[in-house]
Amino acid sequence: MPFQRLRGTHDIHGEDAGVFRRVEREARKVFGDFGFEELRTPVMEEKELFTRALGQDTDVVQKEMYEFNDRSDLRIALRPEGTAGVVRAYIENSFQKTLGLAKFYYIGAMFRSERPQAGRLRQFHQIGVEQLGTDEPLADAETIHCLAVFLDKLGVRDYAIRLNNLGTFEERKEYREKLTAYFMPKKSSLCEDCQKRLATNVFRILDCKNETCRKVVQGAPKLGDHLTPESRAHHDKVKDALRSAGIAFSEDPYMVRGLDYYTKTVFEVSHPKLGAQDALAAGGRYDKLIESLGGSPAGAVGFALGIERLGIVLAGTEPPPSKHKKETVFVAMLGDEAVREGFKLAAALRRAGTSVLADFSARSLKSQMRLADKEHCRYVAILGEDELKKKKIVVKDMTDGSQQEVPLDKAVETLSKKAGSAC
Ligand code: HAM
Repeated sequence: MPFQRLRGTHDIHGEDAGVFRRVEREARKVFGDFGFEELRTPVMEEKELFTRALGQDTDVVQKEMYEFNDRSDLRIALRPEGTAGVVRAYIENSFQKTLGLAKFYYIGAMFRSERPQAGRLRQFHQIGVEQLGTDEPLADAETIHCLAVFLDKLGVRDYAIRLNNLGTFEERKEYREKLTAYFMPKKSSLCEDCQKRLATNVFRILDCKNETCRKVVQGAPKLGDHLTPESRAHHDKVKDALRSAGIAFSEDPYMVRGLDYYTKTVFEVSHPKLGAQDALAAGGRYDKLIESLGGSPAGAVGFALGIERLGIVLAGTEPPPSKHKKETVFVAMLGDEAVREGFKLAAALRRAGTSVLADFSARSLKSQMRLADKEHCRYVAILGEDELKKKKIVVKDMTDGSQQEVPLDKAVETLSKKAGSAC
């Protein structure tokens, strides 16, 4: 039996690889323009980092992490998300002292042992940004604006931004009691999971997708009504700034997040192509995380977006492949001697920085011409037995079919001039 890829993982190739390239190129451009620098953190970290950052009782920590003991018995986890590693790097590299406000973006693989389905993978890829060392509500608005510009540049339409404010941990403590008191007498109407959540994490009942739970949630007290004037002012400033930047959003007073580190602003971006459950991107503020991982107290805000989900949204919107001829030379060869000479020519052209394609399996000239056409190569350098005898090659321009004989010792110079070289 040949090996198969693991469930929930993908081989990314062809058009999908094209989407990844386009998305990553746009991310680097947009995030760079917003002043974010790239940070590449390791794919594995000490498990305890995630337990502490995301919260012991979260689904990600309880059920979804890939974890193992290494040879020295250290408990390791494959990162399920990017924020914890960025904060660890920020503290460990003393960016707090050297950079003041640190703005990072990251692109990379994340791992969660979830039940695989469309848009839900076990190895997936996130693009994210984090601003560390700021309490400013305008930093929240800037982060959301950055995400909106990125999506707009990619041509994503019809996405919706939902916003909420989760308050501080202290505000939530009081709210938790109110919520528990509200749900307790209605316990029997809740789904099995929510009955458990009543004891472990009552907030998660608020975003349960079960229809009956949703009905019960409709009458629940809202956190917004229990915020301090400071948190409320923060929220108002974020909303004002978003409006001033022309960013459409709606408020969702029952929106909670699956990770415990959030404080104050949280947001999610959804898209109709993903269905009700799955967010395209999500993020928010996490003012206590840096301190709880051992840094000096400092606020922070960020978001992450799933590239595979973006791929679902972008499917069918990719521009059709260009019919334009590329300035590429296809070296076509007939006969063993010509193949040897063709390899030499291709190598010399490539060293000169010219883009070259060739098929060394020496099939018929017709099939090689067909391949050159399929690959949109503008020039074909033909080397057959006749040409070898005459120490020449034939250069065919595929845009108009014109042909020209070129001495073999001038082939590199002539072709690299025609096709242009990257050097
Ligand atoms: P998250 O909501 O867990 O947040 O994930 C962010 C995004 O990653 C989701 O909206 C989704 O697009 C993608 N995603 C998550 N799980 C999967 C999966 N199993 N398969 C495919 N895509 C997935 C975070 O990870 C936070 N670190 C975001 C953040 C950054 N908050 C502040 N800064």
